[in-house]
Amino acid sequence: MNHPVDHRLLAQATFQEEEDSNTSANPTFESVMAARLSRRGLLRGSVGTAATAVFGSFATAACGGGDDDTASTPASTAVTSLGFAAVGKTLADAITVPAGYTASVLYRCGDPIATGVAAAKNDGTDTSFDKRAGDCHDGIEYFGLNAAGTGPDASNSERGLLGMNHEYQNNLFLHANGPTANPRPAAEVDKEVAVHGLSIVEVKRTGNVVSYVQDSAYNRRITAATTMTLSGPAAGDALMKTKYSIDGSTTRGTQNNCGTGTTPWGTLITCEENWIGYFTRAAADDTARGGATARSVVSLKRYGLSAGVASRYGWETGGTADLYARWNASQSGTSTDGTDDYRNITNNFGWNVEIDPYKPTALIKKRTSMGRFAHEAAAYLTPVAGKPLAFYMGDDSRGEYIYKFVSDATWSAADAVPADRIATGDKYLDKGKLYAAKFNADGTGDWLLLDISVAAIKGYATYTFANQADVLVNARLAADAVGATRMDRPEWSTVNPATDDIYFTLTNNTNRVLTGTTYPLVDASNPRAYNDTKGTATAQKGNVHGHIIRLSENGRNPAAVAFQWDVYLFGAESTAAAAINLSGLTADQDFSSPDGMRFTNSTGLAWIETDDGAYTDVTNCMLLAAVAGSRGDGAKLTVNNTRDTATLAVDTYMGKKPTATTLKRFLVGPSQAEVTGICETPDGKAIFINIQHPGEDTAAASLADPTKFGSHWPDGGTARPRSATVVITKNDGGRIGT
Ligand code: FEO
Ligand code: CA
Ligand code: CA
Ligand code: CA
Repeated sequence: MNHPVDHRLLAQATFQEEEDSNTSANPTFESVMAARLSRRGLLRGSVGTAATAVFGSFATAACGGGDDDTASTPASTAVTSLGFAAVGKTLADAITVPAGYTASVLYRCGDPIATGVAAAKNDGTDTSFDKRAGDCHDGIEYFGLNAAGTGPDASNSERGLLGMNHEYQNNLFLHANGPTANPRPAAEVDKEVAVHGLSIVEVKRTGNVVSYVQDSAYNRRITAATTMTLSGPAAGDALMKTKYSIDGSTTRGTQNNCGTGTTPWGTLITCEENWIGYFTRAAADDTARGGATARSVVSLKRYGLSAGVASRYGWETGGTADLYARWNASQSGTSTDGTDDYRNITNNFGWNVEIDPYKPTALIKKRTSMGRFAHEAAAYLTPVAGKPLAFYMGDDSRGEYIYKFVSDATWSAADAVPADRIATGDKYLDKGKLYAAKFNADGTGDWLLLDISVAAIKGYATYTFANQADVLVNARLAADAVGATRMDRPEWSTVNPATDDIYFTLTNNTNRVLTGTTYPLVDASNPRAYNDTKGTATAQKGNVHGHIIRLSENGRNPAAVAFQWDVYLFGAESTAAAAINLSGLTADQDFSSPDGMRFTNSTGLAWIETDDGAYTDVTNCMLLAAVAGSRGDGAKLTVNNTRDTATLAVDTYMGKKPTATTLKRFLVGPSQAEVTGICETPDGKAIFINIQHPGEDTAAASLADPTKFGSHWPDGGTARPRSATVVITKNDGGRIGT
C-alpha cells in the first residue's frame, strides 16, 4: 500500500498519515558534508569463500559465509545473464510477461478454501471470508509438503502450502454499495475484520499447471480476530495488559500485514505494518492519560495515534460488544493498570508474528524481541552452525529506521527440520538483541544496541523507559535516543544467498529535503532530493522514485556491530537528468518506488517489485529481475541535488551500474495495482506474486457504473477488480528468468 490515506472512506476524512511521526532530530547527528573519508575495504581481497550452496526454501546446512570479508562468490548455479526479452512499460489493464512465459491467476479475493463453499460472486454480497481468500494479497511464501501431504518437504515443488498476507481491504468493492459511513453496521465490520490477516492454502503442480486445492485440510484463514500469544520479553509486561488479557499474555488479531519472511526451521513470519490506523482515541484522551508529557501519550504519538483522530475503518463503531470496543484505545476505565479498557491495545500490535503453516493447531506467536514498529519484512542471514541468527527488518514510514535482531541462541543445523517448529521459534526468537542502523558518510555503518542498559536510552529526556520490555514496545523512541539514521521508508529486506549482502528497498520519501530543519536533509545513504513531474501535474518532490541500499556485515558475521553499505540501484525515469538517473536506467529497466524484493534461491536472481504512485502516468507497477552483483562493486559518487531552487551536493557510494543483461523489466501489472510478494517453488520453475488493489483509484460515485472502474482485472468484462495471486511459469518448463 503506497498511500496510507484511504481515498474512499470519506466519512473518515481525518484519518491520519501514519507514515510521518518521526520528529526526532536524528539527521542532524550526521553532517552530510563532513567525514568524506576514503572508503575502507572496498574489496578486501578477491578470494572467494568456501563453496556457496544454493539453499532450498529454508536452509538445511550450515555452510556459506566464513569469517573473511571478501567479495562475493556467485552461487554455483547462479544465473549471470537474464535470459528473456524485457517487457515494455504499459498502462494496459492486464499482466504482461515476456515471450515464452505464462502468467495465470491462481487465488483471487473471495475464492473458497473449504469444502462446500460456493464460488465468489464478487459483487459485494459474498460472506464467510473465514473460508475464502482475503483481500489485498501481499507478502507470500512457499512451504513444500511431502508427496503424501503428511508434513514438510522443503524441496518439493509439486505440492506445497502458500502462506500470504491480506494487508487491508479495497472496501469500495467489498460491499454491494460500498462501505456504510460511521456508525458501521456490525455485519460490514465483521466482513472487513475477516478479509484481513492471512491465508494458508495448499497448491499443487502438475506439469506446468499450478492450482490451489479447495478442500485441503491445511487451508485456513487467520484474521484480525484470531487469538494469538504474546511471546518474548514484552509478554506479560504492564504495557501489554488489556481487558481481554489482564495478564498481558494474549491478544486478538493481526492486521495490515505487509511483507513476510520465513525462518530456517520452516515457519512463516508475517509483519504488522500500518496497524496503528485501525485504532482511535477520544479527543480528551491525552488529558485522561495525564497530558502531553505522559509516557503513554508520548508513545502513542510517536507511533502516529494522536487523540481525536478517526480510525481508518471505524471498526470501533460496529457495536458495544468487546470485539468492536477493542479498536478504541482511549483510557476509559478506572483501573490503574488498563485491565478494564483498551488503553494499552496498540502495544499488542506492530510485531513480527510467527505462524506454523503446517500445523493449524499450533500457537501463533507475536515475537516481541524483534521490536515494535511498522514492520515491512524480515530476512535472515545464511545460518551458520554455532553462530547466532540475524534477521533484518525495515520500518516503513517516512524517516524511520532499519533494524536487526540477533538471537542469543546459536544455530544448530538439526533445527532445520525440528519436531516442534514453534518451540524452535521460542528458542531463537524470544531472546536476543535488537539493533538500529546508523549509516556513516564513509560507507561504513554501525548497529546501535537498543537495550535498557545503554546510557542514551536509560537517560533519554523525551521518554523514560521502564525496562527492556518498554524499549522493545517503544523501539522507535529507543532508536531515536541512540541516533539511528532516518531512512527513505524502508520496505522489504532480502539477503543474497551467494554473498550475504542484505538489501533494503527504500521506496520513496517526499520529506527528503535540501534545506531547513523540519525534515531530514539528504545524507550519504539517502542522497537524493529532486523535482519530478507527473504528466502535466504539479511537480513531485523529494526522493520521488526511491532507491535500494545494501549492507554487508563485517566478516559476514550475524553478530557484527559494524557493516559496510552502498546503494545498489537508484529508481528513476530513463529520461530523467543524469543527476537523478544515477544508475543510468534505460527504458527497459526504469522503475519507481521499489517495495517488494527477494532473491530466489534457485537462480540467485534478485526480483524487484514496485508500489508506485509517481511514474503511473507512464506505466503500471512492475516486477524486474536482476543479477545483483555485490556490495562494493561500484565507486564513490557525488550527487548534485536540486529540489525547488535549493541545491546541495552529497557524496554517496553506488554499486556497479546495471547492464542490459543484468536488469530487465519482467512483468507489468494491471491498472492501479501494486505488484508485491514473491516466492518460488524450490526448483525455480514457478514463481508466485501478488497483485494488490487493482482499480484502487475508482471513485465511490462510480460504483454503479462499471465503465468507470479503474480496473476489471482479473475477471475482465464489467467485473469488479480484485486482488489475486498469480503464478508464472516458463512455457518450456525451465527456471524463471533464465
Ligand atoms: Fe504495505 Fe510498506 O507497504
Ligand atoms: Ca509500499
Ligand atoms: Ca515523472
Ligand atoms: Ca510493502
